[in-house]
Amino acid sequence: MANKPISVAVTGAAGQISYSLLFRIASGALFGLDQPVSLRLIEVDPALRALEGVAMELDDCAFPLLDSIEMTSDLKVGFDGVNWAILVGAMPRKAGMERGDLLGINGKIFGPQGAAIAAHGASDVKVFVVGNPCNTNSMIARDAAKDLPADRFFAMTRLDQNRAKSQLAKKAGVAVTEVSNVAIWGNHSATQFPDFLNARISGRPVVDVIEDHDWLHGDFITTVQKRGAAIIDARGASSAASAASAAIDSIKSIITPTPEGDCVSLVVPSRGEYGIEEGLQFGFPIRSDGTSWRVVEGFDLDDFAKSKIAITTNELIAERQEIKAILANS
Ligand code: NAD
Ligand code: LMR
Repeated sequence: MANKPISVAVTGAAGQISYSLLFRIASGALFGLDQPVSLRLIEVDPALRALEGVAMELDDCAFPLLDSIEMTSDLKVGFDGVNWAILVGAMPRKAGMERGDLLGINGKIFGPQGAAIAAHGASDVKVFVVGNPCNTNSMIARDAAKDLPADRFFAMTRLDQNRAKSQLAKKAGVAVTEVSNVAIWGNHSATQFPDFLNARISGRPVVDVIEDHDWLHGDFITTVQKRGAAIIDARGASSAASAASAAIDSIKSIITPTPEGDCVSLVVPSRGEYGIEEGLQFGFPIRSDGTSWRVVEGFDLDDFAKSKIAITTNELIAERQEIKAILANS
């Protein structure tokens, strides 16, 4: 007998990330080739017409696994019974902006969404935030969804992990499949710490394989930290296909056991691991057993790593301070 469809809400469904993401979800690339999917596409009213065009294209793909499409600007309808809420809808950063500039604008979106997900989502609903600044937006949604366990709230540092992997593979002259255990610590922003110390190439520490340690401590980190801005500079728009691909990788990594000896990078609520203040939505190395996740213990952090992690932690604490009023109202 065919599986019951999994119900997936995507906000910002007429935007550029969704234009790649939705087609991959509908094709079975996320939940598997035996899992039908119902899509609940959420947009603001002015974008509903464009969304109709996206839905026409989804229809025109004749995806065997696409069970139904619902389009709405009503959060109650959009999140009704959903198993996953993928929150993409937000204003993207333009040239010259830092992600923090988006805090005030986008922060207001995520409280009502968190509350609606808690009220109308399925009993197992999980929430994955892509819209920036994604760590703090996921904190706002989590805070507004007080009835839901905190461990259901994730945000995306997987794009940074993939970027870091690709840079390390290029430098070492190996395939990306040889690079493992890459953690992104902290905020999905220019303060993040892409961790080369614990990463491995063909099972060996990266620092033993890549001899240019100045590059690891310098250009490697800044390239990953500033990759989003470099793409905006070159493309005139923020990353979209790679962001959608990372969203697929992220959710897959939550619902699939993590391969032995590896970790995945995800933003999750801190329970105080590695001394990070409890409750911050923080990028950690994670392992999943397919149903629950945990922060990987025992990563070696030297003084350099600790100082970098302190910077990104302080930025997240400052962001939390900035949205205090939003949290208090939720
Ligand atoms: P986009 O402007 O192309 O699309 C955003 C869509 O969201 C628009 O169609 C808009 O109408 C919709 N929207 C706005 N407010 C909404 C609301 N309240 N409810 C529902 N929909 C709403 O932007 P994009 O390129 O798709 O990027 C979306 C977000 O993802 C941005 O915040 C961007 O910065 C972020 N992003 C995050 C990562 C990451 O790694 N975490 C990577 C890339 C982009
Ligand atoms: C990215 O990392 O590409 C996105 O977060 C977009 C941005 O604003 O940098």
